[in-house]
Amino acid sequence: MSLFKSLPEIPTSEAKARAKLDHLYKELFYHNYCYYELNEPEISDEDYDALFQEALALERAYPHLKKDNTPTKSVGYAPLEKFEKVSHSVPMLSLDNAFKQEGIEDFIKRIKKFLGLEIDAPLEFMAEPKIDGLSAALRYEKGHLVLGCTRGDGTTGENITHTLRTIHSIPHHLKGDDYPDFLEVRGEVFLSKEDFLLLNEEREKEGLPAFANPRNAAAGSVRQLDSVVAAKRPLQFFAYSLALIPEGIKTQRALLDSLKKWGFSLGDPLKICGSLSDLLEYYGSVEKIRSHLPYDIDGVVYKVNRLDYQERLGQVSRSPRWAIAHKFQASQGETILKAITIQVGRTGVLTPVAELEPINLGGVLVSRATLHNADELLRKDIREGDRVLIQRAGDVIPQVVRVLSTDSSKRNPPFIFPNHCPICHSHAYRDPEEAATRCTGGFNCSAQAKERLKHFVSRHAFDIEGLGDKSIDFFWEQKRILSPMDIFTLEERDSKETPSLKMIPGWGEKSAENLFQAIREKNHISFDRFLYALGIRHIGQITAKSLALSYETAPAWYEFMEKMAAESLESEAFQSLISINMIGQTIGLSLYEFFREPLNKKMVKDLIEFLTIIPIQQTKGILSGKTFLFTGTLQTMTREEAKQKVESLGGKITSSLSSQTNFLVVGENPGSKIQKAQAIGVPILNEQEWLQLIQKP
Ligand code: IVH
Repeated sequence: MSLFKSLPEIPTSEAKARAKLDHLYKELFYHNYCYYELNEPEISDEDYDALFQEALALERAYPHLKKDNTPTKSVGYAPLEKFEKVSHSVPMLSLDNAFKQEGIEDFIKRIKKFLGLEIDAPLEFMAEPKIDGLSAALRYEKGHLVLGCTRGDGTTGENITHTLRTIHSIPHHLKGDDYPDFLEVRGEVFLSKEDFLLLNEEREKEGLPAFANPRNAAAGSVRQLDSVVAAKRPLQFFAYSLALIPEGIKTQRALLDSLKKWGFSLGDPLKICGSLSDLLEYYGSVEKIRSHLPYDIDGVVYKVNRLDYQERLGQVSRSPRWAIAHKFQASQGETILKAITIQVGRTGVLTPVAELEPINLGGVLVSRATLHNADELLRKDIREGDRVLIQRAGDVIPQVVRVLSTDSSKRNPPFIFPNHCPICHSHAYRDPEEAATRCTGGFNCSAQAKERLKHFVSRHAFDIEGLGDKSIDFFWEQKRILSPMDIFTLEERDSKETPSLKMIPGWGEKSAENLFQAIREKNHISFDRFLYALGIRHIGQITAKSLALSYETAPAWYEFMEKMAAESLESEAFQSLISINMIGQTIGLSLYEFFREPLNKKMVKDLIEFLTIIPIQQTKGILSGKTFLFTGTLQTMTREEAKQKVESLGGKITSSLSSQTNFLVVGENPGSKIQKAQAIGVPILNEQEWLQLIQKP
C-alpha cells in the first residue's frame, strides 16, 4: 500500500462522510476522464492515489455509503461510443501503486501473511519495467489474431483490431506450434520517445497541434477509426500477461518466455528477485537507465513469480494482490514562471515557452516548458510571475499543468501574444484553420529559411538534380545558399569563393559542374511549379495550378497580389481572389498575409525578373479563352457549380466587370451590373442561353 494509507481523516458524522465520499467520487471520475479519455492527466499519480486511498478509507469506515458504480471499483473510463464494445473474458485489472520502500515492504508482508509463509521464507518475484502506454488485449484463435481491444473500464473495452493489426510487434500469426487454441495476450501499446518527437515534428509541419507525450500520441493513434492513420505511426507492443494461463506454465518467468517464443516482444530489463533488497536494487538500476531507455516507463512492476500463488492471492477491488507498481519519483513540481518567450519552429509556428525558476523533476533539471499555443495560454490563464505546476510529460517535454492559487491583485496582466516574429520581425498571423500563430517571413526568417529552401528545390517544385536536403544543409552551413536567388547565383559566386566548390572534398569538378548545369536548366520553370515552390502556406500543387491558370503570367499575378495586399480583406481585389476555383478564404488570407511583407514581395519580384516563368495551358474546352461574370441567382445550379462548369470547360471566372469580360450571365434579381455591361458592350446571357452554351457539343 502507498504511504497515503494512514493519512486520510475520517469524518465523524455520517452526513459529512457522505458529502465527502460523493465529492471524492466526482473528483476520481473527473481525473479518470482526464487520464483515460482525454489522455491529459491534470494531477500527479501520487495525488490521484491519495484521493483514491481516502475514498477507500471512507468506504471501509462507512460500508453502507458505498455505491454500485464507483471509481474505486472500476478501472479507467467507460469506452468511447465510436468503437464497438468488447466484454473482457477476464477483467483487465490495474495495479496497486507504491512510491516508497515501506510500501513494498508492506506488499511483501501482506503476501506472505496471506499465503501463510514465514516472514523470512524465500519468495520469488518477477521484476519488469512499467511501460507508460496503454494496455491492450489480443485474442488468438488457433494462432490467428482475431480481435484486439483496449482496456476501457476493465470490464468492457473498445474493439480496435484494425489499428492494432498495423503494429509490427503484434504477430498476426503466432510462431511455433505449442500455443493453445484460444489465447488472450495482454500488454502495452506505446510509441518510442524518438518516434514521438518525429511525429510531433511532422504534425508541426502539417500545422497540427503537437501531442503532449508519447502516451497520448499512442492512445490517439490506436483509437483511430482509420487504420491508415495508425499505420503511419510506428507503434510498438510489449506483452506482459495472459488472460488465462495454459497448462504447463507455472511461473511468470515461464509465461514471458512463452510469449517471446510465440513472437512477442517483452519489456527490458526483466529480473527474478528473491528479496526486498533485490527488488530495490532492480528499482534503482532501472531508474538510473530510465532516461536512456528508448521508451517511457513510469516505474517498475513486481509480480509474484509462482502462478499458483498468484491464483491463491486473487485480487482486491480492481488490482491483483500478487503485483504492485513501484512508481518512480513524481515528475511534477511547483516553481515560478519567470517569463514567457516565443520560439519559432521550422515551419514558422510561434510557440510560447515558459522560462522557469529551475526545478528538479525526477532527476532532470527543468528550466523551460512548452505552453503550446495562444489558446492554451488563455485557457489556463498562465501569466508571467505565476506559481505553476510543472510536469515532465513522460520523459520528454516538460509542460505547465496549471497555475497554482495566486493573489489576483498582485498578478501580472495577461501575456499579450506577439503579432510579430521575434526572429525576423515579420508580422505573424493566426491561421483560421489551426490553433497556431505563424510568422509570415518565410525565406527571410532564419528559423524557417532552410526548410523553405528544401521545399523550393524539391521534386514537385524546382526539382533541381543534385540539390537535395543534404546539399541544402551543406550550402546553408557554408552560407552559400541562404535565399532562393542564391541558388541561381551560386555558380557565378563560386568563381570568387575560396575554396571553390570544385575543390571541396566530396564535390569535385564533375559534380560541381553537374550541379551548376542542373541549376541553369531550371532558369525556365512553369508558372504553377514556381508558385508551389514559394511554399506559401496552403498553396499546394493543385491550388498553384488554379492560380497559374487564373492569372496567366507571373508578372500579372504579382501585380494583382501586390495591389490586393495593399487593400483590405473587404476589397474587391480580395473578393475576386477568393472567387477563383480552389481558392477560398483561408488560402486568400494566406496570400494576403504573405504579400503584406515587403521582403516577401522583393524576393518574389527578383525571382520573376530573373527567371523565365512559363504560363501553363488552359484545359482545352468549348469555353477556352472566355471570361464569364455571374450576377443574380441561377435557378438550375449554384454559383459554385457554375464556376466549376466554366473552369472545367476551359473558361475563366471574374468578379469584376470590364471590357475583358466576354459574357455576363444573369440570374434572378440581378444588380446594377446589367447596365454597366450594356454600357461597355459586354454580351448578356440569361440562364437559358447560358445552359444552351454549355450543352453545346
Ligand atoms: S501487469 C493484472 N505489467 O500499467 C496486472 N502492467 O497501472 C495488470 N503496465 O494496466 C498489469 N507495464 O497497462 C503489468 N509490465 C507490466 C506493465 C503493466 C505497464 C500498465 C498496464 C496496467 C497499468 C497499471
